[in-house]
Amino acid sequence: MKSLISILDLSTDEILELISTANDIIANPDKYREACRYKKLATLFFEPSTRTRLSFEAAMLELGGSVLGFSEANSSSAAKGESVADTAKTVSCYADIIAMRHFKEGAPYVAAQNATIPVINAGDGGHNHPTQTLADLLTIYREKGGFENITIGFCGDLKFGRTVHSLIQALSRYSGLNVVLISPVELKLPSYIKKDILKENKIPYTQTTSLEEAIPDLDILYMTRVQRERFFNEEDYLRLKDSYILDPPKLKNAKSDLAIMHPLPRVNEISTAIDSDPRACYFKQVLNGKYIRMALILKLLQEAAK
Ligand code: CP
Repeated sequence: MKSLISILDLSTDEILELISTANDIIANPDKYREACRYKKLATLFFEPSTRTRLSFEAAMLELGGSVLGFSEANSSSAAKGESVADTAKTVSCYADIIAMRHFKEGAPYVAAQNATIPVINAGDGGHNHPTQTLADLLTIYREKGGFENITIGFCGDLKFGRTVHSLIQALSRYSGLNVVLISPVELKLPSYIKKDILKENKIPYTQTTSLEEAIPDLDILYMTRVQRERFFNEEDYLRLKDSYILDPPKLKNAKSDLAIMHPLPRVNEISTAIDSDPRACYFKQVLNGKYIRMALILKLLQEAAK
């Protein structure tokens, strides 16, 4: 694997290997302080980000490497009309590895086809977000001890939520998975994911609009933000944005070991009163995101050097 564009570019063995490296980094950070000395990560972010960009940068700095890049399209020559392909060829002359976020689905794939260095998809439109999925998988592994026999509820914007799409792809390869899809009718999971991933892998799933009814059965509740930036009109966004707000009364019938996850940023969908609940895992996901990105950078640079 030269680049990471989709979570399915990684085998289940490779995912376990990354989790094992991340756990070793957490236990022995000093061992890795010089692991990427003289190596450079380019962060090419054509869309806003806090966690993904900064965790990539922190990851590379903690590995002893350096970072360069841009955090908005307007501060790059994309504003003058330069193509993603030419940007990738150019940055290959300056850096050893690229993390790219783009508003267009498929842009990191185009970059990977044209770069001479590894490219990591840091989120492409409403499509995929494989490194958020790696952060989610590390969190699930640390909270639940593995990925089998899990009932997971995805709640919110399942249509545009790229983290949901990637995590469903990833979990579909483990046995005993049950999926509960909780969304307004307008924001249902795209049918191609239901057909190609859930039905194809014979994964039982149910669809509902009621978070309260779904909660008692769940081992994991994965909340998501309604993705304002993907809506065609503001009126629809305003009507749907507060469809689900998780607050303490809604957890009344939840399991005592429920893991509450969210890729963040949140807007209103999880009350801050939940933050002190021991079941809240979303800031653990943030920290795990840095460690798993360290493991990924190490793996891709080691493979590129072969
Ligand atoms: N989870 C996530 O992708 O966050 P950012 O948009 O802040 O990077």
